[in-house]
Amino acid sequence: MTAREGLALVERDEHGVDTKFREDVLRGLSEPQKALPARWLYDDAGSQLFEDITQLPEYYPTRAEAEILRAQCDKFRHLIGEGRAVVEFGSGSSVKTPLLLGCIAPAAYVPLDISGEFLRAAAEELSAKFPGLPVHPVEADFMRQVQLPAAVADLPKLGFFPGSTIGNMVPRTATDLLRTMRATLGEGSQLLIGMDLVKDPAVLEAAYDDAQGVTGAFNLNLARRINRELGGTIPVDDLRHVARWNDDFARIEMHLQATRDIAFEVSAKRFSMAAGETIHTENSHKFSRRSSYQLLLAGGWTPRERWTDGEGRFSLILADATIPRSAP
Ligand code: AVJ
Repeated sequence: MTAREGLALVERDEHGVDTKFREDVLRGLSEPQKALPARWLYDDAGSQLFEDITQLPEYYPTRAEAEILRAQCDKFRHLIGEGRAVVEFGSGSSVKTPLLLGCIAPAAYVPLDISGEFLRAAAEELSAKFPGLPVHPVEADFMRQVQLPAAVADLPKLGFFPGSTIGNMVPRTATDLLRTMRATLGEGSQLLIGMDLVKDPAVLEAAYDDAQGVTGAFNLNLARRINRELGGTIPVDDLRHVARWNDDFARIEMHLQATRDIAFEVSAKRFSMAAGETIHTENSHKFSRRSSYQLLLAGGWTPRERWTDGEGRFSLILADATIPRSAP
């Protein structure tokens, strides 16, 4: 069993197949525009490839967000204050979380992740860096409302959702998630959320189609994963990685495009793709100041402060759960 698979939260059939993965793949490959939920990109190999992506010269979001966290430390201390329970949605990248925690002297840290393995690793790393800090990991799917540990029940909360992961969701799903986070965190809570910004499509397309081909390998790994886990016969060499800017929806889309007519099986079901046809594997929505505020407000969060990096590529927004009650 691999780290991402060794979970109580994953349902498996008698052959050890992740039933939700198979369901999503069989449904997604049967649609006129083939599409697979992006979450399946992150098996062990995919998660490692994503870590590699964050180090690429073309992939600016991770560095830009860390720059903001470093630059605005004093502001965070002032606006967030000390003594909050920090609830991180998707447990901690090794770099960003300590930057935040070091600024605001929280009373507790609650990492949420669907992978127990990742969670334990993140919790241990954090405890080593902040010896006095109570850490309460929670193994949960943060797309659903989570019951937080009793130990933090009476503390004011700060939700932390970095990385522009919100951009992976279409607005309907993103709105649902923001509302769910609000329900999890409760009245009086704050949210610090990273949102990547609209910019020159050439810069965006390079960030999602790097010269070393790491993002390509990340995308193609999904086809390999289907072959590995679902008895697939997808001819991976006949697929190519495509990253394209969709201006109507302000998002980068990743696709796997057939370079010739192909046919294959997955879980004993037949599929075919004509040359040029694609499987849509990920959206990464990009925001303006207004579109980010609109999304937050739709999800029940009022933006209070917004920061960008020196080059204006990425934004970090502090919002709170108080809705203006006197609004007309
Ligand atoms: C992890 C969702 C923030 O959309 O930028 C990076 C994933 N995909 N390169 C992003 C990703 C291709 C990344 N997020």
